[in-house]
Amino acid sequence: MLKFPIFMDAQSTTPCDPRVVEAMMPYFTEKFGHPASRNHPFGWEAEAAVDRARGQIARLIGARDPKEIVFTSGGTESINLALKGIAEMYREKGNHIVTTVIEQRAGIDVAKRLERQGLEVTYVPVQPDGLIDVAEIEKAITPRTILISVMFANNEIGTIQDIAAIGRLAKSRGVIFHTDATQAAGKTPIDVEAMGIDLLSCTAHLVHGPKGAGALYVRRKGPRVRLTPLIDGGGHERGMRSGTLAVPLIVGFGRAAEICREEMADEAARIGKLRDRLQDMILSSVDECFLNGHPDRRLPNNLNVSFAYVEGESVLMGLNKETALSSGSACTSATLEPSYVIAALGASAELAHSSIRFSLHRFNTEEEVEYVGQRTIEVVKRLREMSPLYELAKEGVDLKSIKWKAD
Ligand SMILES: Cc1ncc(COP(=O)(O)O)c(C=O)c1O
Repeated sequence: MLKFPIFMDAQSTTPCDPRVVEAMMPYFTEKFGHPASRNHPFGWEAEAAVDRARGQIARLIGARDPKEIVFTSGGTESINLALKGIAEMYREKGNHIVTTVIEQRAGIDVAKRLERQGLEVTYVPVQPDGLIDVAEIEKAITPRTILISVMFANNEIGTIQDIAAIGRLAKSRGVIFHTDATQAAGKTPIDVEAMGIDLLSCTAHLVHGPKGAGALYVRRKGPRVRLTPLIDGGGHERGMRSGTLAVPLIVGFGRAAEICREEMADEAARIGKLRDRLQDMILSSVDECFLNGHPDRRLPNNLNVSFAYVEGESVLMGLNKETALSSGSACTSATLEPSYVIAALGASAELAHSSIRFSLHRFNTEEEVEYVGQRTIEVVKRLREMSPLYELAKEGVDLKSIKWKAD
């Protein structure tokens, strides 16, 4: 039996796994201690729980030492801490950062702020298939470069970058390497040691954990990475992030990471199959429909398509009572801006406006995929029937040749 609305917007957030909620519950009530209370059992219990979660997250990303995990409030804070913390700490060494044009807003906005503060930032372009050319990163490095920051997998198109190659490059040039793995962690294997990652941002709410907990992996050996904190206070998290830890959320994050590590291989295969089914249904039934991003080097839960002649927002409106999806357009106060990620791939503004992101999660079913696929096809076809542009194009008129208004 289908239950509405169907949620297929799992790259915005995910529902908590009931096993995660179960693990968290005691830490709201009887196990309420402060992990920094060193002199009584309430504190010891809380500290042990936080350390267990550190270990669970460390194991998910291949970190050798749980102490390398610094807890934060989420991906956004981790990215802020990584970029601003490095810029401040290594100010004497250099003033240049290399990043990409497709980072999530947090990465872009922090880089823009650092630029306003006098740092130099190079934004490496993206290729039409969503991959960053590692040679472009290499070209951008100067003797003053202190940080390379490249997202592991993109939140809109799911494309997975060649992180190991970037890690090797960073190491060979003695530059610190940060990756925003907010979308990738728990979905695709990560090994910070093998991949040469020095800093890694991730968040609980995208891996069926609670909202409000995140982590920054900070390498302790080879090289030992140091950061200036954003938040001063009691010196928690080895001085990198003061403030009382959100113990229940951290316990939930740890459990969520553990489940991902145990189930990732099976889950990726199952969800990947559902995504492929959805993709086949849509691409085989709708003409002039384009897949955005790399067809293979992609997160198993992501499908991003542009439907020519219809606006992404209109498709969403046609579906939104029953299905939660996301369009590539960011709804700003007055205008609908096309997705900067799809636009950066070289797509026309029209196609950037017409992209839809389907993102699946642990609890989606085959039945849901069949329903969403069918309904999407129906809605797109109906919108096209009402589209004069589509009609003209079908009559063979070159839309670019049309003069829309008298001069
Ligand atoms: C790629 C990426 N980075 C960072 C974030 C921000 O993470 P948070 O919502 O935990 O602040 C997100 C959130 O969706 C994301 O997709």
